[in-house]
Amino acid sequence: MAKKVKTAFFCQNCGHESAKWQGKCPSCGEWNTFVEEILQDKSAAPQKGDWKPAGNVAEGKKTVSKPLKIEEITYSEEQRIITKDAELNRVLGGGIMPGSVVLIGGEPGIGKSTLMLQIALTLNQQKVLYVSGEESGQQIKQRAERLPFDSDNCYILTETNTQQIFQQIEQNKPDVLVIDSIQTLSSSLLEAAAGSVSQVKECTLELIRFAKETNTPVFMIGHITKDGNLAGPKVLEHMVDTVLQFEGDRHMTYRILRTTKNRFGSTSELGIYEMQSVGLREVSNPSEILISQRDGGLSGIAVGTIMEGNRPLLVEVQSLVTPSVYGNPQRNSNGFDSKRLNMLLAVLEKRGGYKLSFSDIFLNITGGLKVEDPAIDLAVCASMISSHEDWALDGQVCFAAEVGLGGEIRAISKIEHRISEAEKLGFKHIFVSKFNMKGVKQEDHNIRIHAIGKLEELTDYLFT
Ligand code: TYD
Ligand code: MG
Repeated sequence: MAKKVKTAFFCQNCGHESAKWQGKCPSCGEWNTFVEEILQDKSAAPQKGDWKPAGNVAEGKKTVSKPLKIEEITYSEEQRIITKDAELNRVLGGGIMPGSVVLIGGEPGIGKSTLMLQIALTLNQQKVLYVSGEESGQQIKQRAERLPFDSDNCYILTETNTQQIFQQIEQNKPDVLVIDSIQTLSSSLLEAAAGSVSQVKECTLELIRFAKETNTPVFMIGHITKDGNLAGPKVLEHMVDTVLQFEGDRHMTYRILRTTKNRFGSTSELGIYEMQSVGLREVSNPSEILISQRDGGLSGIAVGTIMEGNRPLLVEVQSLVTPSVYGNPQRNSNGFDSKRLNMLLAVLEKRGGYKLSFSDIFLNITGGLKVEDPAIDLAVCASMISSHEDWALDGQVCFAAEVGLGGEIRAISKIEHRISEAEKLGFKHIFVSKFNMKGVKQEDHNIRIHAIGKLEELTDYLFT
């Protein structure tokens, strides 16, 4: 008689297991996420009798954990691997932590494989094993030839079975392991297809165990779903030490590497790259490229300051305000929250007296950036007023303040950093909130600081 295959249903979003199919996941509340998967193949899994407790029982040295006082626990500061890529070092919190598991997510074609191969090729001191389940050896070699790096310490393995991979690792003993991608791996302990929730979870667990036991750092590339989340269960993100997102517009050349979780550093760090024909180039002074195409004399353009982590960035806000042809005016925003845009428009109408309700409004943050920092508000308002009035702003002016519902100009964080960055880039005027001026001295800066309290003061200054 054929062996009965055991199956269960798994939520593709959170990994919840259920014996029967359900429309809505009781754990995370998502709809239509249950997929049937084959459960563990008992014949391949270790049998009950094979199980050995952790610790070396054979030699009679069974290790038992017992509670320790925190001051009794000793550790040595781990030696991080500092790569040649300064952006990656910063995003990881100061280099690669030994034994850490890093998950890199991003849309297809964004450059995840290129980034990892580039890093693998620049780590000359360490032996790197690059395991690919997506491309053949020749394809990887072709890609490597485009990159201006050379390494005799980088090994390529095209394999998808984790047991085989660990066998190769045992022989080769790499110092750094790269997996491209976690969704292509499968473990023989499970019968489910590669990429399914249970396989992704099992393979990740095996890799984490390997990383922790051997103190080898592991980089895993992960696919993301249509709505931008990492494919596979959310638990995956809980399991790994660090989650990096590689983002950017595929048609634009800039790419942003962002930390969304990091057990060994800050999560507010960000690295910027430019995709060139010879691979990814680090961009060490991003403000310069984000606002470099200023010609002056165009209305609707304003420069704002944002903080990405501890890094101040100057970004250009462009807007186009035109009379609407249809009854229903369009509101279109790129890189800026459209709800916030509507709020600012209401403030401009009510407090500034601008009649914008019959205009189509298009807003764009240049460079493909997505801005969440409220400090961009004032630049957004200035750019819309400028377009509405068709009056170009002075190219040497920039803005750093939040706008409140009463039209008041509100204070923001790290004002000194932002002022210094604007000054460094040659701006001559910066508009900030007057509530931000505590501790800021005009004498210390070579840029004129205009402290204002209300939106009207800005319009009085700029457009009269
Ligand atoms: P790839 O690294 O394969 O992306 P992912 O692994 O995230 O799917 O993606 C690369 C894209 O980058 C591809 O469309 C070609 C382009 N590219 C360059 O522009 N320059 C280069 O030097 C390389 C290697 C790729
Ligand atoms: Mg790839």
